[in-house]
Amino acid sequence: MAFAGFGLSAVLIEKYNEFGRDAEKENSIMLSKIPTREEALELLHAHNQSESLRRHAYAVEGVMRYLARKYGEEEEKWGVIGLIHDLDYEKFPERHCAETRKILAANNWPEEYIRAVVSHGWGICSEVEPESLLEKNLYAIDELTGLIAATAMVRPSKSVMDMNVKSVKKKWKSPAFAAGVDRSIIMKGAGMLGVGVDELIEDTIMGMREVAAAIGLQGEV
Ligand SMILES: [Fe+2]
Ligand SMILES: [Fe+2]
Repeated sequence: MAFAGFGLSAVLIEKYNEFGRDAEKENSIMLSKIPTREEALELLHAHNQSESLRRHAYAVEGVMRYLARKYGEEEEKWGVIGLIHDLDYEKFPERHCAETRKILAANNWPEEYIRAVVSHGWGICSEVEPESLLEKNLYAIDELTGLIAATAMVRPSKSVMDMNVKSVKKKWKSPAFAAGVDRSIIMKGAGMLGVGVDELIEDTIMGMREVAAAIGLQGEV
């Protein structure tokens, strides 16, 4: 019976610990709160005066929202993370990702959001490898939005509205065009997602069309 008694107290201790862990979890959820788009936008504008950086943020947000709907995921979360992903780049380009982590943590953003944001710089400015579907998509489309925007700018229409995958692929194959866009990262991202580059380009064009006016790529169409 002594054994049974010991067993019982072990169960009680385990229950107590469980309770403690739950309370801890709840506490950390209460400390950080789910950021709204308005809060994210306010932070973005406070830290980024450059119109081109703001437009890049809107483009990535638009594509992340489109992809969230495609995968049946939380659109608001994907959009907010897309919007804020390059937060520190204007002021701290040499400490990109690390400064964003600091700013978001100081604003009580949840770790899930911070981790996702920082993972977009995997292998460049962060060691955090994209793991979730959200993170892999962000990693895959970030650079691609740059290539698509550059492709749109040289079209007679200056628009993403009449653009197709073929026109982007043509520019993709010309390394001198938008040379800063690292094609290998986009390919790595597509590989992580298990989607073809063509599909990724198509989705990214579709997402950018939804925010065409905000990113200055509505053009004459
Ligand atoms: Fe970045
Ligand atoms: Fe970016």
